[in-house]
Amino acid sequence: MKPVKLSDNVFFLQINHFNRRLFDSLIPLPEGTSYNSYLVKGAAKTALIDSVDPEKREVLFDFLKDVATLDYLVANHAEQDHSGSIPFVLEKYPMAKVVTNPKCKEFLMSHLHIPAEKFIEVKDGGTLDLGGKTLQFIYTPWVHWPETMVTWLKEDRILFSCDFFGSHLASGAVFSEENIVHDPMKRYYAEIMMPFRASILGNLEKIKGLDLAMIAPSHGPVHKNVDFVKNLYQNWAGGPTENNVLVAYVSMHGSTFVLVNRLVSRLQEFGIAVEKLNLEQIDEGRVAMAMVDATTIVIGTPTVLMGPHPKAVYGAYLANLLKPKAKYVSVIGSFGWGGKALETIAAMIPNLKAEVLKPVMVKGLPTAADLAQIDELAALIAEKHKVLLGLK
Ligand code: FEO
Repeated sequence: MKPVKLSDNVFFLQINHFNRRLFDSLIPLPEGTSYNSYLVKGAAKTALIDSVDPEKREVLFDFLKDVATLDYLVANHAEQDHSGSIPFVLEKYPMAKVVTNPKCKEFLMSHLHIPAEKFIEVKDGGTLDLGGKTLQFIYTPWVHWPETMVTWLKEDRILFSCDFFGSHLASGAVFSEENIVHDPMKRYYAEIMMPFRASILGNLEKIKGLDLAMIAPSHGPVHKNVDFVKNLYQNWAGGPTENNVLVAYVSMHGSTFVLVNRLVSRLQEFGIAVEKLNLEQIDEGRVAMAMVDATTIVIGTPTVLMGPHPKAVYGAYLANLLKPKAKYVSVIGSFGWGGKALETIAAMIPNLKAEVLKPVMVKGLPTAADLAQIDELAALIAEKHKVLLGLK
């Protein structure tokens, strides 16, 4: 494998994992992923920025086969998909030092047992001169771990951003295309960045003054259209919600399904876009993506024994974990003889700073009166959206 030249003496080591289908044993990867390293050669020193998932280290070493000396290995983030090969890189280049911040050093020492003497600690804003190539380290905490940072190559105006602006997208393309990268970026943002919106906005502000030629993340292709990707993040993290409702549901014998269909139909009549997702075979990424812009989230659940369906519980747990911007939430569903499905779901979502709208729980197959309650809920959601979003 030959590294791809991004600019003079700056190379892209794109390590695709086309057939990986799950990340963190949780997140579906419909388009695979990549772990990118970057090689920066100065007149005096050579640095590798981020390593790769250890499963793909042989590909990294193939890229590095003509690199005789490595002086520095910059670790922007301690998670193992970028750090897991560091011990192997240090075996190959025993003189190399790991350059990172104190928090990341602590994590790498505990997660990978890298000895303390292998590190050079850098401060926020600190620089490292490679000889005509200056790396500057900018702390960007909580995108999406506390130790995350980015590395700015001043002379070439490239920002090595690690997870920040990344996409789970295995691709032969070096540079991103807006229509192709949008959904994998959104999926990536939704799954791991969304809970840290305030930090993301702070970090966007922190890098605002950089005159970026490229953003080079450690997942997915390199971005030349830097305004496009920065604006996406700005909007997802800080922009208003849209006239959307996420209806995430599960149904056992069809009663909840009748309620869901009625609600979706009524909402659509009000001109509201609805993402209706069945939690029976959940794609967590799709659910998370729908939460990015939704103004309202409705969870539909039948009653199993005395509580909500476990798959609806999972959906509620996910929503609580991801802390989306939604302003309104509701629960609809059904029961056979009793139970506390509604109360259980409602108690599971304290992180959602959302107003709870008129839940509807019905006994058995919905009656005309039950459906009238759903119509009222739809009308209430439409009214709330109209006022909040300033719709005509
Ligand atoms: Fe791509 Fe947080 O690791």
